[in-house]
Amino acid sequence: MSSVVLLLSGPNLNLLGTREPDVYGPETLDDHVATATATAADHGLEIEHFQSNHEGELIEAIHGARDRVAAIVINPGAFTHSSWAIHDALAAFSGVIVELHLSNPNAREAWRHTSVVAPVATGSIVGFGADGYRLAIEAVAAQLAS
Ligand code: DQA
Repeated sequence: MSSVVLLLSGPNLNLLGTREPDVYGPETLDDHVATATATAADHGLEIEHFQSNHEGELIEAIHGARDRVAAIVINPGAFTHSSWAIHDALAAFSGVIVELHLSNPNAREAWRHTSVVAPVATGSIVGFGADGYRLAIEAVAAQLAS
């Protein structure tokens, strides 16, 4: 089995660190990737990271993960709430899928309460800020070991 975990970051997450730090924290996306990479290494896993502000590029990254990587951890940003195309791409991936959010969208504006990704994810980790990246990789490792 592959030991690669694809970490996907959606729109505006490249701005983390300066984007609404009161909501998303002071860490940069590089900081989160470093956390995920270190946690993955503890479990003999390897992180491949891709960030895009473009829906189609995220979909192509998901297609490229099929039959190649063991798991996808995805923070789809605002596409979480609208992208049935990302939903369908994830539905065509047969490995573990973790939906990840820094904030807790369910505790925010009403339009953030719907996730079209959640129904095709193995599980979701929301609201734990930067620690979510560690938790998401721990969840992947536990799923792969079960
Ligand atoms: C987010 C939550 C989304 O609602 C928002 O659009 C984001 C970030 C999070 O990590 O908390 O861009 O996915």
